[in-house]
Amino acid sequence: MDLGLKDKVVCITGGSKGIGLASADVFAREGARVIICARRAERLAAAAESVRNSTGMAIDTVQADVTRLDSIAALFSTIDEQFGRLDILVNNAGTGTYKAFMDVSDDELMDGMAINFFAQFRVAQKAVPLMRRCGGGAIVNVSGRTATKTNYPPGSTCTGPAKAAEVRFSSDLGNELAQFNIRVNCVIPGVVETPDRFRKWEKEAVGGKVDPQSEEKVRRALEERSMGRRWGEPEEIANVVAFLASPRASYVNAASIIVDGGSLTKSYVTELYSHKDAIEGVLTPR
Ligand SMILES: NC(=O)c1ccc[n+]([C@@H]2O[C@H](COP(=O)([O-])OP(=O)(O)OC[C@H]3O[C@@H](n4cnc5c(N)ncnc54)[C@H](OP(=O)(O)O)[C@@H]3O)[C@@H](O)[C@H]2O)c1
Repeated sequence: MDLGLKDKVVCITGGSKGIGLASADVFAREGARVIICARRAERLAAAAESVRNSTGMAIDTVQADVTRLDSIAALFSTIDEQFGRLDILVNNAGTGTYKAFMDVSDDELMDGMAINFFAQFRVAQKAVPLMRRCGGGAIVNVSGRTATKTNYPPGSTCTGPAKAAEVRFSSDLGNELAQFNIRVNCVIPGVVETPDRFRKWEKEAVGGKVDPQSEEKVRRALEERSMGRRWGEPEEIANVVAFLASPRASYVNAASIIVDGGSLTKSYVTELYSHKDAIEGVLTPR
């Protein structure tokens, strides 16, 4: 299906890896003019190279930290100078902390809100004037399944409420911006296999027992135990993001869509915690 995204100017936050990079790939394939932002320049360059290799399309990169107001302002000044418009914003940058309530530090609590809900709010505030100037647009906010249900008890008190705020934010903003022809929707991914995410969860769940060489083995072994369901691929989230951002979704606004393969799919984190004592067994066939 042609999504009608050709020549649309798209900004994707956290576009150098994982779901953001997969989204850049999908938009580029559809002929959109893509700008990705993230903090690390070398990752941005590698991401642009990877999109060029897979789609044949050049994309733009801007180094930006979405937890900083000055950096967000600079990002949209650059987009304005270079493109003069913005049609689509994908508010994707975000992360999670999974640990027991009493172990969450105040810094982790503040950082969790800053990189998730606050960043989406602040980035959208700078994007909307550009969209209004070109007659409308679409915003897709990427939340996470902890927004709606507990991932691992206990473990989501810090991240869950921050991701839940993104769902509620999307609904309110979609209603408010409809008058300007701007649709706002939210994607709620389940557990998606992104390498950095795996390492982070593994470290938090089993204290760094899995070395990089064994990661893939552990991943597959845990997946087999998860009731025959699998974890998602970044592209499977990116496809929904691109659809919601496209004119094909013209009657979808202020909605949140769960993309998690169904309610039986178990959390990666849950699996890691449940089997933390068996990790050695997973690594060493008995
Ligand atoms: N993977 C999952 O299973 C999963 C599940 C549910 C929800 N999600 C949500 O999906 C989104 C993407 O997750 P992911 O797993 O694809 O992430 P990821 O692989 O960890 O990539 C995160 C991206 O965001 C960038 N980033 C991080 N902090 C940033 C900051 N302060 N300013 C600008 N960019 C920043 C990173 O680059 P730099 O570090 O160089 O800045 C990178 O490009 C997040 O909102 C996450 O909460 C993911």
